Amino acid sequence: MSEPAAHELHHASEAVAVAAERRWAYIVIAIIVLLLAVMVFTGLHWAAMPPSRVETVDVRTLHLKGEFVENNLGTALEKDGRVVVRLIGQQYSFAPQCIVVPAGVPVTFRGTSSDAIHGFVVGRTNANTMLIPGFISTFTTTFPKAGEQLMPCHEYCGTGHEAMWARFQVIPSDEFYARAKKAERMSCVPG
Ligand code: CUA
Repeated sequence: MSEPAAHELHHASEAVAVAAERRWAYIVIAIIVLLLAVMVFTGLHWAAMPPSRVETVDVRTLHLKGEFVENNLGTALEKDGRVVVRLIGQQYSFAPQCIVVPAGVPVTFRGTSSDAIHGFVVGRTNANTMLIPGFISTFTTTFPKAGEQLMPCHEYCGTGHEAMWARFQVIPSDEFYARAKKAERMSCVPG
């Protein structure tokens, strides 16, 4: 068997290099196409959705049955130990009008609207969401320190929008748990 000439070896290695480069180009193109597809999907799909994960609720029976009946609104210590606040936005108030939560403990909010789109932000905290009829907005946040906060509606919802707000009391967690033992639903401390 004769040894291949030097120029033949050079030619073969060049072909290998070209093939490797082409393969790499295909991989890069595939990654770019995948990233674009993810961007288009999330842009189109999630832009049409309310904040947080999607949970729906029937607006027509909101006050009659289920999670958002009047005596189930407000702050509750669930059996699994979670602190859950349930609230409704409606033209032009929040139910309940005053919400009490413990400081330094994760609090889960579950809210919806019975008419227009409302929203709320609690003072200067990061508690901030929209309330959309037919959907349940959920988020969890922790309030670092005790104190009073205002909770205004921050989505324009009609002529009474400016006057739509609730109060917010963040109380020390030991005080909160002491009160949670006595009452199933907690309301604000008067004064
Ligand atoms: Cu409700 Cu603005």
